[in-house]
Amino acid sequence: MSLSIVILAAGQGTRMRSRLPKVLHELAGRSLLEHVYQTASELPHETMAVVYGHGGNLVPETLSHLQTRWVEQAEQLGTGHAIAQTLPLLDDNDDVMILYGDVPLIQAETLKRLVDAAQGSGFSLLTAKLEDPAGYGRIVRDKRGEVVRIVEEKDASEQERVIHEINTGMMVVRASLLKRWVTALDNNNKQGEYYLTDIIAMAANEHTTIECIHPRALYEIAGINNRVQLAEAERAYRRLRAEELMLAGVTLLDPARFDIRGSLTAGMDSVIDVNVIIEGDVKIGDDVRIGANCVLRNVEIGDGVNIMPNSTIEDTIIGNGCSIGPFARIRPGTRLHDHVNIGNFVEVKKSEIGSQSKVNHLSYIGDTEMGRGVNIGAGTITCNYDGAYKHKTIIDDDVFVGSNTQLVAPVHIAAGATIAAGTTVTRDVEAGTLSIARSEQRTVKNWKRPKKSEQ
Ligand code: UD1
Ligand code: CA
Repeated sequence: MSLSIVILAAGQGTRMRSRLPKVLHELAGRSLLEHVYQTASELPHETMAVVYGHGGNLVPETLSHLQTRWVEQAEQLGTGHAIAQTLPLLDDNDDVMILYGDVPLIQAETLKRLVDAAQGSGFSLLTAKLEDPAGYGRIVRDKRGEVVRIVEEKDASEQERVIHEINTGMMVVRASLLKRWVTALDNNNKQGEYYLTDIIAMAANEHTTIECIHPRALYEIAGINNRVQLAEAERAYRRLRAEELMLAGVTLLDPARFDIRGSLTAGMDSVIDVNVIIEGDVKIGDDVRIGANCVLRNVEIGDGVNIMPNSTIEDTIIGNGCSIGPFARIRPGTRLHDHVNIGNFVEVKKSEIGSQSKVNHLSYIGDTEMGRGVNIGAGTITCNYDGAYKHKTIIDDDVFVGSNTQLVAPVHIAAGATIAAGTTVTRDVEAGTLSIARSEQRTVKNWKRPKKSEQ
């Protein structure tokens, strides 16, 4: 028997007050639907289908990279109607897991338990007891405690409204049963919708046991209807990732002030200070320190690296023992070998910097290949752009570049060369030479500075 997964995502999401379909809103840098998709993908399955509708083709077009079938529900006539669109895709022997595109933080562990729970009767349901059940469908049980039906809040009686056990919407149903029940749904209710939840009463009437399981944590079942709930979910997500990292051996000086919008893998004994933002895929080694207010996106960092506050690093590979910042900006395509120092107010773009080299203050290094043991003085600029094309600067091992120097690319500084401070280098420099290009100093004696006239 195999698993089919259906994700409902056709609803409009009016309360987001947005031009964007709700499931495309982002949580931690990924759309709501992608969160559900990725969690669902952790379970071995045969078929996956996403039901889309509101917003036309925008959802399948935006997320065309997802390995799923897209099923259109042109008119949103209810959750039962949405499932009805997928029935032709389902093999009778499959177990069908129904998920919601706007309930992004459901965990794979819970879903696995839900699948297991369906193995006996062919029907399992994820429910939860909420202090405030308002807005949810309520689980109605008989005297023996068996589930007999779900009543939507709008259709519920006074007595039913005080029931605290609610329907999360997520369930696993054997396809043969699902097909039979969904085809029999009607829309005789307050909202005039085909309620998927009405299949619970059909199952109970046939004496099919409905196995209920509960999520570990309530954030797992929280649906996103507005931007307040979106921010709450984002906070829950951050907290979850932060706890994983701490348990894996990373110190977060304040987990409540740590933003993760991607994945972070880290070695042991690294320390992350407050207001660090992690985006994309970030890997850090052992004993790394990341100072306050750093933004790291798609970065690979070796062991023993110290990144000082307010640095921004993107699409970069950093070797062991490097020191970076404060206030450094490292842009895509950069590779720093071991023990490189990048100091304050230094920008590096698409450059390779050899081990033990230092760019300590106020410099721009772009489109550069730099060897080992190079020292770049304060205020050095690689002039890599002529207004139309980018050109390369090549700096060999053990070069010393004095302060306030311009290296006009394309240019090659050979090994061991020295460039005097204030030089504009426009021609290639030979190994072991000194290049100096600046006007000679003059002295004017008894110089009178201009003065403001009195009065
Ligand atoms: C639904 C459940 C309710 C449950 C709640 C949990 C029904 C009838 N009610 O109510 O018992 O407590 O979820 O959050 O199922 N959708 C479609 N097509 C449609 C209608 C909805 O794809 O025609 C999708 C929506 O995009 C959404 C999900 O189904 O992802 C739930 O729809 P929504 O209208 O939010 O259901 P609720 O009224 O909240
Ligand atoms: Ca509704």
